Amino acid sequence: MTTVLLEVSSLQMKFQGLMALDNVSFTMDAGSITSVIGPNGAGKTTLFNCVTGMYRPTAGRVSFDGADITALAAHKVSRHGIARTFQNLALFAGLTVRENLLVGAYRQGSSGLLQGAFLSPRARAEQRAAVAAADEVLDFLGMLDTADLLPGELSYGKQKQVEFARALMQKARLVLLDEPMAGMSGSEKIAMTELIRRVQQRFGMSFLIVEHDIPVIMDISDKIVVLDFGRKISEGTPAQVQADEVVIAAYLGTSHGAPAALAA
Ligand SMILES: Nc1ncnc2c1ncn2[C@@H]1O[C@H](COP(=O)(O)OP(=O)(O)OP(=O)(O)O)[C@@H](O)[C@H]1O
Ligand SMILES: [Mg+2]
Repeated sequence: MTTVLLEVSSLQMKFQGLMALDNVSFTMDAGSITSVIGPNGAGKTTLFNCVTGMYRPTAGRVSFDGADITALAAHKVSRHGIARTFQNLALFAGLTVRENLLVGAYRQGSSGLLQGAFLSPRARAEQRAAVAAADEVLDFLGMLDTADLLPGELSYGKQKQVEFARALMQKARLVLLDEPMAGMSGSEKIAMTELIRRVQQRFGMSFLIVEHDIPVIMDISDKIVVLDFGRKISEGTPAQVQADEVVIAAYLGTSHGAPAALAA
């Protein structure tokens, strides 16, 4: 039996005259990998911003595991168990990889771990646990050897993996990945796809993914939602979406050149 984890209902986001999201509705099942695709400017990142509380939608509703999270601020959405990565790398350049992961953990901590030298025994224990958790995540991702490096010392693909690792640190039930494969080499994309699958299987996490690499999306997704100019134009399994004339037409004439992959 499947349960709906995330439900987006009649979501609207209007910026001045621009309708960035226009009456968008879809559901995603718990434990699934659901993807959102669409040409540049279709509203994909805006959708993520609305779901994670970074934007307050101008109409509509977002519910997560039955709870209405529409009007919640980002930190409260995160407490419900939703984590995300950003389209543009958002790592702290001056912090090591491990420290970047700990920033994710501190958001969860109950006793203000970053608050300096006078740590209570409880805070110290929490800090040790957080470091152990960070190393465990890095080890799981096969990148423990990078723990003490700065992000700038890693390839772009590895930096994207650090962002992914940081989202995992939040022990979220749903992780939103905004273009996790952008800028990656072919082999890095394969590695990232494998990582997402392993995490889904091992921890039962659900993923909502925005990605322009259509073959990757076709391979990894249980379900695909297609946006164009803020509207949902298609939804279904990879096979259904791939065969949808409306989707093929939307991609023709865009810079993403997806028709070949879609029409395959
Ligand atoms: N804060 C904002 N203020 C005004 N307009 C915005 C804002 N954020 C997004 N938009 C507009 O909303 C539309 C959708 O943008 P969005 O970033 O969601 O697209 P996208 O599908 O993520 O595109 P891409 O594939 O290029 O990342 C665009 O026209 C964009 O300019
Ligand atoms: Mg975007």
